[in-house]
Amino acid sequence: MSGTAQIGVTGLAVMGRNLARNFARNGFTVALHNRTASKTHALVDEFGEEGVFVPADSAEEFVAALERPRRLVIMVKAGDATDAVIQEFAPLLEEGDVIIDGGNAHFADTRRREKELRERGIHFVGVGISGGEEGALHGPSIMPGGSKESYESLGPLLERIAAKAPDDTPTVAHIGPDGAGHFVKMVHNGIEYADMQLIAEAYHLLRAVAGYSPEKIAETFRTWNTGRLDSYLIEITAEVLAHRDAATGKPFVDVVVDQAEQKGTGRWTVQIALDLGVPVSGIAEAVFARSLSGHAALRDVSQTLPGPTATALSEDEAARFADRVEQALYASKIVSYTQGFHQIQAGSEEYGWNIDLGSVAAIWRAGCIIRAAFLDRIRGAYDAQRDLPSLLADKQFAEEIGAAQDDWREVIATAVRQGVPTPGFAAALSYYDALRAERLPAALTQGQRDFFGAHTYRRTDREGSFHTLWGGDR
Ligand code: ATR
Repeated sequence: MSGTAQIGVTGLAVMGRNLARNFARNGFTVALHNRTASKTHALVDEFGEEGVFVPADSAEEFVAALERPRRLVIMVKAGDATDAVIQEFAPLLEEGDVIIDGGNAHFADTRRREKELRERGIHFVGVGISGGEEGALHGPSIMPGGSKESYESLGPLLERIAAKAPDDTPTVAHIGPDGAGHFVKMVHNGIEYADMQLIAEAYHLLRAVAGYSPEKIAETFRTWNTGRLDSYLIEITAEVLAHRDAATGKPFVDVVVDQAEQKGTGRWTVQIALDLGVPVSGIAEAVFARSLSGHAALRDVSQTLPGPTATALSEDEAARFADRVEQALYASKIVSYTQGFHQIQAGSEEYGWNIDLGSVAAIWRAGCIIRAAFLDRIRGAYDAQRDLPSLLADKQFAEEIGAAQDDWREVIATAVRQGVPTPGFAAALSYYDALRAERLPAALTQGQRDFFGAHTYRRTDREGSFHTLWGGDR
């Protein structure tokens, strides 16, 4: 016997609730389930008129409510809860049914779960969903992994609930098999960390070097948001900076404790990048900057360590400096995305996912936190050359970053002179300069390795592996 619901959602906390409502608002009949049944009924009581919901109090009832092949979305806490829910539902399912995990799972867990369920004839689709609560309700950016076959069944539903890019295409695409969707979502979050860190550095420089107030910086960001930096994160940053604390009347940013927290996807991105040997220095610096900010005891020396004395800028000089910061921010952003897309490419090769990088850029154009006009350019670069070795190999990006480099260097030099930390900007410039270098000092590193460990080296003028007998008696 099968039911009438085209999709079911189990786990009705904020994200699950909003996703279920999004499906219903788009005309799908949605079966609902939650460990604590009261939440299921609360949703129907509050939003019942938005569409057709079929509330279920037990796992059996929930499964029976779904049409076949069944599509069942799990929206519980990532980790053990996901495994527990899979164990509960899998025995009730039949061959060809599809379990969708919309949580923030680690892609390695998704690979494990997909393999186990595949052996039982059940499709398991790990789906990255970005856009927060609002996105889940009004249209997120959706990154599904899993088999091609499962996407044939699931894709049309996801296309209806996804956000729409400026060219009206839905921001969802089948990323690749097994954990590919969660992997790409992980790197998305890593890039988000880097974007946020770079914006924070721009703010810090405008405040400390240009002497701008938070309001003035908000205004500056609003102007930038009308140009090539047009993005959700720049837009909300301007709002945060313009906001005043109701209790004290002070700029909101001045009453917040300056210790950034994290949930872990940025850290995963860096951990996996280390395993894959991909240099994602911008993302790493962003994760480390958050860690550093949280070490209160480490920062106890703030009053004792000497630094340079700040030099005040005239109004004209400050405005010129702000323009330069825009150049530095844009150039550093190009590097962050270069590094992030490199990681996706490396993951795709390692796991045989065959990910289309242009389509990843395309589905990040709307719905997600890093949505930006810029992503359409990245899509264009990869669409023009699918096997582009790096974004910096694209002629237009190379030209833009080249045009920005003088200002970029000047901003970092000023930051160093004035004692303002800019780990993101500086790491990005070092990456750029390393790629530009004809010869890297890695040759010397190889010499050292051969000296102390007989690790051998390759030569520029001959094939083969060489070892030098250093200093005779070693
Ligand atoms: P919140 O997001 O509200 O902080 P959470 O603890 O992250 O809550 O849990 C999110 C969802 O996962 C909830 O729907 C929760 O069910 P309850 O409403 O019954 O708490 C669900 N969940 C968490 N652990 C679970 C488990 N082991 N089995 C089934 N559902 C679980």
